[in-house]
Amino acid sequence: MPRDVYHLDLNSEKIKSACHVILPGDPGRVKAIAETPPFSNTMEIANKREFRTCLGYIHNMPALVTSTGIGGPSTSIAIEELAQLGVKTFLRVGTTGAIQQNIDIGDVIITSGAVRLDGASAHYAPLEYPAVAHYTLINALAEAAKELEIPYHVGITCSSDTFYPGQERCDSFSNYVPRRFNGITEEWRKLNVLNYEMEAATLLTMCSVFGLKGGCVEGVIVNRTGSEHITKEDMELGESNAVKVAVKAMEKLIVS
Ligand code: URA
Repeated sequence: MPRDVYHLDLNSEKIKSACHVILPGDPGRVKAIAETPPFSNTMEIANKREFRTCLGYIHNMPALVTSTGIGGPSTSIAIEELAQLGVKTFLRVGTTGAIQQNIDIGDVIITSGAVRLDGASAHYAPLEYPAVAHYTLINALAEAAKELEIPYHVGITCSSDTFYPGQERCDSFSNYVPRRFNGITEEWRKLNVLNYEMEAATLLTMCSVFGLKGGCVEGVIVNRTGSEHITKEDMELGESNAVKVAVKAMEKLIVS
């Protein structure tokens, strides 16, 4: 009997030796992503805690979609256990808040490297170690966005363990941003960081440490230079553009 990994409720037989995975944060997005063409014959194969997995086929090759939950700790579990089962290519798809003025709602950001403002990646490598995407994933994502005519930006992402203080949000329960983070968005902006999200640094560090391929694409749902407010329409636009780019990029990686 193949061994089940500890959290994901998966084993090598269940995943049909798939080597590629798309990783959204939200379990509620997994099925829709895994049913986006050219995915076919999709079925749900696990659903435990925040980790839901669908198996589908892209040009007859098995490919997975697994949710990570929010943030570094649960993302690290998903990557660890999928890597233990033989997965080699990890493509995160998510949403993000832009911090540069020239980035619009619905654009996608392709992360070339991430500021490690998470905690989980430091359990895998010292902070001096870079969180960088594999060039094949950056290229596939950029080509996919170009073909789909979805505006895209390639650059540095800040991955924060918290949505509120770490991303310098004042619209929180306390309205207080600790001194460590007060003014940090302006500093990241000056350092040409494009956006905030919560998982890229963990994923990219782990993939580099393991000798595996990692990449991230995020759909912009808010631009923090103009507003803190996230509308349902903006959320849907950012999400759906990022998913289109991720699935097309995955197709390119699988057929290449
Ligand atoms: N996800 C984040 O982490 N931050 C945002 O601003 C939007 C989505």
